[in-house]
Amino acid sequence: MRFKDKNILIIGGSSGIGLDLVKLLDREGANIYAASRNSSESWPASVHYQAIDVMDNIDALSSFLPDELHGVVYSVGSINLKPFARVSEKDLIDDFRLNVVGAALVVQLALKSLKNVPSASIVFISSVAARTGMGFHSSIAASKAALEGLAISLAAELSSNGIRVNVVSPSLTNTPLASKFLNTPDKMEASAKRHPMGKYGEPEDISAAIAFLLSQESSWITGQVIPVDGGMGSLRTNL
Ligand SMILES: NC(=O)c1ccc[n+]([C@@H]2O[C@H](COP(=O)([O-])OP(=O)(O)OC[C@H]3O[C@@H](n4cnc5c(N)ncnc54)[C@H](OP(=O)(O)O)[C@@H]3O)[C@@H](O)[C@H]2O)c1
Repeated sequence: MRFKDKNILIIGGSSGIGLDLVKLLDREGANIYAASRNSSESWPASVHYQAIDVMDNIDALSSFLPDELHGVVYSVGSINLKPFARVSEKDLIDDFRLNVVGAALVVQLALKSLKNVPSASIVFISSVAARTGMGFHSSIAASKAALEGLAISLAAELSSNGIRVNVVSPSLTNTPLASKFLNTPDKMEASAKRHPMGKYGEPEDISAAIAFLLSQESSWITGQVIPVDGGMGSLRTNL
């Protein structure tokens, strides 16, 4: 029970990686505060829910948050892949707003509650594409690289408050966001084969790493980007 009586805010807990994290943290005793546009029927009854759209005003979070917050996870993102020539100004601004500005504004609203506990942890989710060049990923790669920059700066600024900030960086993971890449047996097989470990990710591969970074087991880790990608970002096995 690593999270007994710990209050954890999850933005994007209604689907995919965030949903799996809600279930994991619930099993480990956390009080879960979830915010997204929709709630989920798969949630345990004890989940506290606030409707927000991070592309819009998120001030409703202020009155929703408890006085003490032990962790914040921002599990919101996009995969808009296009040839660079077709990437519009709106694509770039929307991806930046969803992936970076949304995360920054959530942390600003949560800061007071995070500072009210001796050691809190913030976890963002980047993408393998932020550090491994992949065609058609220009907009999302730029936003996720910016998110990693935000994390390392916040890690420095908040260290004196005992607040750690880390990033998990997945490769392709089997969630609704990635469904168009995994919706036929052929695509599933090809995606699995592209990864050195011979499989694409499952939500529990990523949520386990996030839970570790939220927990006291990682109390000396801050300002880091942890790849959870089946070797995709760092290994070459087809020489
Ligand atoms: N799946 C992958 O292959 C993959 C790979 C690399 C990185 N990632 C990253 O992993 C994270 C989680 O992605 P996922 O695959 O679990 O995606 P997902 O299944 O689509 O879940 C995304 C979550 O974000 C919420 N959300 C989306 N837009 C929102 C908005 N405007 N306001 C508030 N909440 C919003 C969704 O809830 P509502 O729809 O209810 O609002 C949902 O709970 C993201 O940061 C993504 O970039 C995923």
